[in-house]
Amino acid sequence: MSQWLLKNCFTCLVCLCFFSGLLNFLLQQPRVLHFFKSSNSTMAQISSVATMTSAGVRMPKLIYGTAWKKERSADLVYNALVTGFRGIDVACQPKHYREDLVGQGIARAMKDKAIKREDLFIQTKFTSLAGQDPAAIPYDKNAPLVEQVRQSFNRSLENLQTAYVDSLVLHSPMPTVSETMEVYRVFEAIHASGSAKQLGLSNIYSLDALTAIFQAASVKPAVVQNRFYQQTGYDKGIRQFCKANNIRYQSFWSLTANPHLLASSALKSVAQRLNITPEQAMYKLLMSLGITPLDGTTNLEHMKEDLAVLSLPELTAQEVEAFSLLTGGMV
Ligand SMILES: NC(=O)c1ccc[n+]([C@@H]2O[C@H](COP(=O)([O-])OP(=O)(O)OC[C@H]3O[C@@H](n4cnc5c(N)ncnc54)[C@H](OP(=O)(O)O)[C@@H]3O)[C@@H](O)[C@H]2O)c1
Repeated sequence: MSQWLLKNCFTCLVCLCFFSGLLNFLLQQPRVLHFFKSSNSTMAQISSVATMTSAGVRMPKLIYGTAWKKERSADLVYNALVTGFRGIDVACQPKHYREDLVGQGIARAMKDKAIKREDLFIQTKFTSLAGQDPAAIPYDKNAPLVEQVRQSFNRSLENLQTAYVDSLVLHSPMPTVSETMEVYRVFEAIHASGSAKQLGLSNIYSLDALTAIFQAASVKPAVVQNRFYQQTGYDKGIRQFCKANNIRYQSFWSLTANPHLLASSALKSVAQRLNITPEQAMYKLLMSLGITPLDGTTNLEHMKEDLAVLSLPELTAQEVEAFSLLTGGMV
């Protein structure tokens, strides 16, 4: 027995020496070194432009919003993608979004610029009857609620010319948690089928409702998309809940609702130090707080400026803290 052990240990030792020698040799080869270096820098690039959600979805840190763009939707989405945006937010709600034209813009950019589907993050929403224009409802208003959700989602896939979306969001909670869960169960079935990679909630300002939905959900929401403004105390409680439960918080109205923040000394000093505009400083500060801003600019120069925020250096802890004090305190 002891002889057998001695012999096998010796064989293991020889193998170990051989493989560590081989590894050492390989790591000294320029090509191997280059591979490791380039994959490291690619990883670094990914982390500066995108984040991994709890659902394992690669979500850009700045998302292009497509509301109110009407017949310009296709061209603006095309320009946004050509300029470098990789995240698109839309909704199956003809009242505010031309989802069909957003789909056309995406398809054109993918074709012209050889953008692969897996490099895009496409997020759409189900909007209940209460949020639809009665003259343009994108599903059968007389169908049962669960059927309305299915029809809306199928319409989204058709409009967006895609087999799946990366993120499916409930535009606003239903009047009760139980009705919200009725919708959410259909979302979960869609997620199970692979047609939506992650689920989310929007316009959810009640912490009690968010907690109840989160607890009842089998597929936990990966994103919350809310208005970021003073009247709700900048969603501090909601954001704390999101952080504690690995939900990514997306903000809208970030610029329009906050002229006082854009004019604040906390923001101006960041803009001055980095030689950027107050709007860029705002997006950078939001990202530094772990927030994913939605950006619906219609201006090509602003598209470039806003994307340039992704390559800015990290802010100091004092800069982030000064901003967080104006937005409800550190979360
Ligand atoms: N879930 C919901 O209920 C909901 C509600 C509202 C919005 N959203 C989503 O959020 C997206 C964004 O909407 P939003 O309400 O936050 O507003 P927004 O459409 O992003 O508008 C922001 C304003 O900021 C300006 N802007 C952007 N970048 C700028 C820059 N670098 N310098 C100066 N001005 C700049 C834009 O003007 P220019 O066009 O001139 O650049 C625009 O007037 C929407 O498209 C939609 O996808 C969702």
